[in-house]
Order: sequence, then structure tokens, then C-alpha cells
Amino acid sequence: MAAGIDDIAVYVPRLYLDADDFARLRGVDATKLRRGLGVHQMAIADSNQDPACLAANACLRIMRKNGLEPSDVGRLYVATESSFDESKAMNAYVVGMLEQAYGSGAFEHCGGVETKFACVSGSYALYDNANWIRAGEAEGQGALVVVSDIAKYDMGSSGEMTQGAGAVAMLLNDRPRLLAFDPRVAATSIRDEYDFYRPFGKETPIVHGQYSNLLYLIQVRKALEAYKKKALASGLIRLDAGPGADDSILDHIDHLNMHLPYSNMGRKALAYLVRHEWRGLPRWKKVIEEAGMDEPEPNDPRGTIESVLADGDFMRKDHEFQRRLTATSRFREVYESKLASSLIASSMVGNLYTASLYLGFRSTLEFEHAKGADLAGRRFGFGSYGSGSSAMVFSGVIQEEYAETVNRMKLEEEIGPRTRLSVEQYVQIHENRLSPEQAVLPPKEFVLVGVDSSPESRGERRYSYGG
Ligand code: CAA
Repeated sequence: MAAGIDDIAVYVPRLYLDADDFARLRGVDATKLRRGLGVHQMAIADSNQDPACLAANACLRIMRKNGLEPSDVGRLYVATESSFDESKAMNAYVVGMLEQAYGSGAFEHCGGVETKFACVSGSYALYDNANWIRAGEAEGQGALVVVSDIAKYDMGSSGEMTQGAGAVAMLLNDRPRLLAFDPRVAATSIRDEYDFYRPFGKETPIVHGQYSNLLYLIQVRKALEAYKKKALASGLIRLDAGPGADDSILDHIDHLNMHLPYSNMGRKALAYLVRHEWRGLPRWKKVIEEAGMDEPEPNDPRGTIESVLADGDFMRKDHEFQRRLTATSRFREVYESKLASSLIASSMVGNLYTASLYLGFRSTLEFEHAKGADLAGRRFGFGSYGSGSSAMVFSGVIQEEYAETVNRMKLEEEIGPRTRLSVEQYVQIHENRLSPEQAVLPPKEFVLVGVDSSPESRGERRYSYGG
């Protein structure tokens, strides 16, 4: 039985911090954000928004857009790493809010959980719900998988340049209009790591930035290798293996969507995967000739992440090699045709943690379609990464009738008019100095009204619908 993504809705807070304002506030070069990281604007949640109401707003949008009734939805999963309760799952809060719109008890039948594994948990949630459908358990109903996060880092930390907020709701069913998942190829890699984590009670993560960058690349590459084995074994993809063959698994994936903690991480990831996939192929000689430099090797034979990062001489040469590789005609062709469109939304919105990969997918659909590309039948690959750490690589094929759904996708309209925050407002929101009633924007859609602080009901949250 087919299973896949039928439609997508996005909810992004309407407040944003501009890269120039951030750069002035922190005394950094704005070019580092705009060109170095690909960050132009970062969406900031207002003081009356939390990840649960972002998720509920995305759900309401996808339901209204598709004329869905609660009885059409059999499961509702929320994937997040911005959880605010150690026990009560975020989908329960979302059900509570949706029932304000659809009536008390309307979602009583709708099972689900909150999933956690940093930014990759949305991909595990999609996979589990796709299998619920494939197993014939859905009985004609769909599943809503919502990925929702507020990416917030300590003031003055290197991560503060890569913040953002938003939610993406995906409707899964057995007759998907957008993308049908390829069966039996989803592949994972996992290792106990401390690259980025958020201990109990701490609102912001502890991050080892450069370590997390390299670990992301290594884990996604491992998952891609596992995907390749499965895709070849199942016959989904056949590689030309004859004498002189110059065929790579990446040639068989038309569009790539990567986890995007910041927009340029997509390019970094593509460069890393290309290096590993092309290195043994005849084309590599031409690439090296054009780059005008051999690929450097670490001086320290241990090859651990720590030893590589501490090897300043290697890191400088490797950085230069990557710069030259990404300037070659062969790389640029792959970058433009497979990846560039997926990065546009991220540069406008910033990091959405679990939702970043799926905002990237949505970005590819919208901006490739706007370029006039015919996506029907094209294979989309997904490279998902979650710190701590696990990666998942999977793929799917765009369906014949996708254009009807994609025609209606207009990211700027879906976000709505945005308000540029002053740095003073940004600092007040970041440091939680504003209560929900002091929100910058008037209440619209689901908002947080308050959090109880009395001893017997501490932490209880109340939401209302602001129209
Ligand atoms: N003009 C133009 N470019 C500049 C520049 C300038 N003045 N100054 C620096 N740059 C470039 C650098 O060359 C670099 O480009 P390359 O990556 O191509 O080399 C880029 O800007 C970033 O510069 P640095 O690497 O020096 O930046 P940094 O170390 O200060 O911070 C970061 C970067 C480590 C990503 C940091 O923002 C961070 O810690 N972010 C949070 C962690 C994170 O996002 N990790 C990603 C993997 S983990 C993950 O994906 C999970 C998740 O969602 C968090």
C-alpha cells in the first residue's frame, strides 16, 4: 500500500529579527550571517506563543485548507525538541486547542505521542505513521505529523546567529497527492554523542558548534551509505557498475532536502556527500583538475572528530578545498539543480529544528514549481539529522497530480505580513521579560494566555483562539 505526504501547511511567527540588526547588536559582520551562514531573517516567537500553539496553528491550516473533519484524522503526532513538560505530550495540548475550533471531544479517537530525538524526530514520526498506513491500520483516515520548534540559543553564543521558530504540519495518507515514500529504503545511523543537548530545566541548549557541524556530516553520510545498500538491494536504484562506470547514487536522486540549522548547512552537506560519493569515480579526476588542488588528508591518523578539528593545518586546507570544490562547474550544476531551491525558505525564516527539513521540502516544491520545473515522477531524497545523535535518509517520488496542491503554495502569503523587531524588543522577548498579555502583536489564531504558577497547578497552560 502506498503511503506519503498529501499536503503541507506552514505556520511561522510574524515577528523577525533582521540579520543586519543582529549583527549590529553583537558587533559581528552582517556578511558572516548573510553570506557565511545564509541567514537573512530569523522568525521570533512572540511572548504569547509556544511550540504547542505554533503546532496547533499549522494543524488548523492544513485541516481548513483540505476541508478535513476531525474524523478524517486517525493520528496526530507532534515532533519537537522545545518541549516544556517532561510528561504531558505536546499533541495533547494541540488536541485541546483544535477542540476549541472543532468542539469538545472531536479528537477523542485520535491517538498519538510527542516524539523526541532533536531535529530528526519528525522523520521518525513520519516513518512510523507511514508504516501505520502501510499496515492497513488507517482504514481510510489520514495522519497528521506536526514538527514544531522554537530554536533559541543563549544570548551572545555562537548559536544565537542561527535561531528561528515555526511549525510544519504534514498530512499523510494512502493516496498522497504530493509525494509517495519509497518503500524499504529508509536508513538510519545512531551514536551516543554530546554535540548539542538541553538538560532538564534549561531553556536553551549546550552546543559544541563546530563539533556538531562535523558530526552532522558524518552521520548523514553513514545513513546515506545504509540507504544506498537498501536501494540497491531492493532494486529501487540500479547503478551502472560496468568498466569505467561513472555512476553515483546522488545521480539517481533528483532533488535533495537536507536538515537546515542554517541555510548554508545544506551546501556544506552536499559538498561533503559529493566528496564521498564521487571520490572513487572517473569524474573525480576532472573535478580535482578544475579545483586545482588535491583533497587534503588529516595529519593525525586517529581520524576522530576531536583530532580533525584540532588539526589547524588540515582544517585550513580542507576549508580551501571545499571552497574550490563548490566553485567547480560540476558541483555548481548539482547544487543548482538538486539543492538551491530548498534553501530559500530557510534564509527567510531561520532554524526551525525539527521543521527545518520539511520547510526545505516545501521550499523545493514551491520554488522549483515557480521556475517552471515539472516535478512529477522526480525522486526527492531527505537527509535528516538530530543531535545526540542520529541521522535518517529516505526518499520518495513526486506524484502526477502534485501541481494542483503546489499551485496554492505561496510562502510569503502563508506567513503573512511580518514585523521587524527592534533589538530592544528582541532582547525583551529572548530574556522572557514580556508576559503573554504584553505580546508585540495583537492575538491572532491560537495563542498562549498564561501559565499557572500556583503550587497545585504549576505549569498548566491556557490557550485561546484570537481569530
Ligand atoms: N564574511 C563572510 N563569511 C564569513 C565571515 C565574514 N565576515 N566570517 C565567517 N564567515 C563564514 C565562515 O567562513 C563560515 O563559512 P564556511 O562554513 O563555509 O566555512 C561561516 O561563515 C560560519 O563561520 P564560522 O564557522 O566561523 O562560525 P561560528 O563558528 O561562529 O558559528 C556555528 C557557526 C558553529 C554553526 C554556530 O552558529 C552554532 O554553534 N550554531 C548552532 C549549532 C548548529 O547549528 N550546528 C549545526 C549542526 S547540529 C544540527 O544541525 C542540529 C541543530 O539543528 C542545531
